[in-house]
Order: sequence, then C-alpha cells, then structure tokens
Amino acid sequence: MSQRVALVTGGSRGIGRAIALTLCKADYAIAIASPELEKNEEVAGEIRALGGECITVDFNVASQESVKAGVDGIIKQLHRVDVLVNNAGITRDALSMRMKADDWNKVIAVNLTGTFFTSQAVIPHMMKERWGRIVNIASVVGEAGNPGQANYVASKAGIIGLTKCLAQELASRNITVNAIAPGFIDTDMTAVLTEEQKQKMMVKVPLNRLGLPQDIANAVKFLASDDASYITGQVLRVNGGMYM
Ligand code: NAI
Repeated sequence: MSQRVALVTGGSRGIGRAIALTLCKADYAIAIASPELEKNEEVAGEIRALGGECITVDFNVASQESVKAGVDGIIKQLHRVDVLVNNAGITRDALSMRMKADDWNKVIAVNLTGTFFTSQAVIPHMMKERWGRIVNIASVVGEAGNPGQANYVASKAGIIGLTKCLAQELASRNITVNAIAPGFIDTDMTAVLTEEQKQKMMVKVPLNRLGLPQDIANAVKFLASDDASYITGQVLRVNGGMYM
C-alpha cells in the first residue's frame, strides 16, 4: 500500500500544527492547508526535518473555489487524500444582543461551511480508494453552550450534526466520519483570554490543567488509524472531564 496522505486545514499553528506533526510521525504524508503561507512553510520545515513528506497549500476553507483548487493541487502532487482533518476555525465573540451580522456570518462560513466544502471536495477521492477518515474538530461548547459565543457555538453544534450526516452517507464506502470536541486548549485562540477568565474555566476542569494541542493530536491519530475502523458518527470529548 502506498503511504497514506493526511490533509490538515488550519495546520499552520496550534492544534492543527500538533496534528500535522503527530500524523507525520505516524508515517502519513502531510498537506498543510491555511491562508498563513509563511507559517504553513514553518510547519512544513519541521515535518521535513523529521524526515517526513509535506506540501503546503494556500487554502481558504470559506471559499469553495479556493478549496477546490487546493484539493486539486494536493491530488496532483500527492495523488490521494486518505485522511481529512477539518481543524480550521475562528472566533468572533460577543453577546448575542450585540453580535454583528458580519461576525455571525464569518464564523459560520469558516467553521461550519468550511468543514462542509472541504469534506465535499475530498470525498470523491476517498470513495475511489474505498477507504477514508474524516475527523472534524468541534468544541466542548458545541454541546454545552457558552455565553458570548452564539456564532461559534452554533458552528460547532452544526459540525456535530454534519459529522453524523456524513457518517451515515459514507459508511457503505468504508469512510468513517467522527468529531473531536476539545475542551480548553492552550493555543493562540485561548491566549487572548484574561487570567481571570482562564481561572474561571480551570475550576470546571476535573483534571486540573489546560489541554495541550498534543492531547487533541493523539485523539486524531487514533480516529485516523485502522484501530478505529468500527467507530463512526461519534463525538470524542477530549476535555479533562470539563463536560461529561
Ligand atoms: P488557532 O487560532 O491557533 O489556529 C487556527 C487555524 O485555523 C490557523 O492555522 C489558521 O490559519 C486557520 N484558519 C483560520 N481561518 C481559516 C480559513 N478561512 N481557511 C483555512 N484555515 C483557516 O486555533 P486552535 O486553538 O489551534 O484551534 C484549532 C481548532 O480547534 C479550531 O477549529 C478551534 O475552534 C478548535 N478548538 C480550539 C479550542 C481551544 O481551546 N484552543 C477548544 C475547542 C476547539
């Protein structure tokens, strides 16, 4: 069998970077797809330094044209996509009463529509191989809710519904689709929170520490592997016990 190829959206930093490095160590060829071209290259450099194969793609998940062109480019260079990790995500927080239409639309476009567009572009290639793994990065708040994040919460709850729908549509083709719902993970996304906000979150975490990008990457590696072949349509919560 030729080497499996994993496409990681938002692989330029944070959780996506950890996923890309972890899948490289598990012997996948990697495509890093984000609009942050320099950062894409930095991660690609780290992967190549480990002896892994990596390409980078200028990729905006919210644009169907960009996604199509990006996936075509990956197929040209690496010939297949076996594992898709829909990790790209953004926040634009505000209480619902004050949330701007643009902030609602942007978050839905990147987080939810982006997950759909990228899956849609990759699925035909997985069908051809009669094997595939889609892992969608949702969030604890997609199940639990969170004040000030109506757009983000709706996008992540939508990802969970989309995961179950795609799992049912694709099971007969031997393609599994699962979601991971991370808790509070130490990345650029959470670095903007104040110490007080962090402390308030930490009280809710029985394991009493922030999650690390590696905690999420380990779960992705499992769901992408042959060991997870009988798991589909599930939400794996990686949250230190924050929501059970
Ligand atoms: P981050 O802000 O460090 O990285 C986000 C990544 O998404 C970057 O690589 C960025 O380039 C990419 N991205 C943004 N807009 C994009 C677009 N239009 N097209 C393609 N790529 C785009 O975020 P972090 O913390 O690494 O989050 C990764 C995923 O995990 C996100 O989906 C986030 O919602 C989710 N998550 C994060 C949690 C946390 O506590 N950090 C908790 C739960 C979920």
